[in-house]
Amino acid sequence: MSHRILLLGAPGAGKGTQSGKLADEYGIEHVTTGDALRANKDMETEYGTPRSFMEAGELVPDPVVNEIVEAALADADGFVLDGYPRNPDQAEFLSEITDLDAVILLDVADEVLVDRLTGRRVCDDCGANYHVDFQPPEREGVCDECGGELIQRDDDTEETARERLEVFYENTEPVIEHFRETGDLVEIDGEAPPDEVFSRIRDVIED
Ligand code: AP5
Ligand code: MG
Ligand code: ZN
Repeated sequence: MSHRILLLGAPGAGKGTQSGKLADEYGIEHVTTGDALRANKDMETEYGTPRSFMEAGELVPDPVVNEIVEAALADADGFVLDGYPRNPDQAEFLSEITDLDAVILLDVADEVLVDRLTGRRVCDDCGANYHVDFQPPEREGVCDECGGELIQRDDDTEETARERLEVFYENTEPVIEHFRETGDLVEIDGEAPPDEVFSRIRDVIED
């Protein structure tokens, strides 16, 4: 059975955390526009570099992200898509290049999201995710997986986190509403502990 999974959710909802687990469990690609853009922040495009948009919490222009996703999906035999589509035009583009087997929304309240974002730490080497309170590493500042240094993302300040939430409600809520109307959306309580969220996602996928 193929696994073409779309994981939707606000900034900090746990998309990256759960996508990593799904990629391991099912041997599928973790396709994430956020990580791809962070790895190419200073790439020259006709719209400028991704950096300026990302540091302001704004969306990077559609043609840039559409191209990233199209290339990644062309190579993938099964995927979990994280951070895309983020507006109705991206959703339209996606529908032209692939079908989906599951569309899952991680539901988390705003105040929880802000705490998650401002407390997040990521490994500078392997990208593993931590949280100073909710998912602390064994040694402060050091990655459990690879020993790399844990850093804070530029866009995880409280001010930029709140801006990202605004951008999400304005641009991405309509995408969620669309999948709700087509009857494809499955909503999961994203405030449960990570392993519990994962087991609920697995139930949806294997249903
Ligand atoms: P992106 O990297 O996609 O960021 P985001 O959508 O804002 O989401 P996050 O990565 O912040 O959160 P997440 O849901 O992955 O949560 P995580 O698992 O880390 O995008 C960044 C920027 O790139 C955008 O602002 C935009 O500029 C640009 N961009 C990207 N895609 C684009 C697109 N398609 N179009 C245009 N521009 C685009 O978890 C968060 C924290 O919570 C972690 O610390 C984690 O340890 C903790 N946590 C996770 N799950 C739990 C749990 N169950 N309980 C307790 N703590 C938990
Ligand atoms: Mg993420
Ligand atoms: Zn690491």
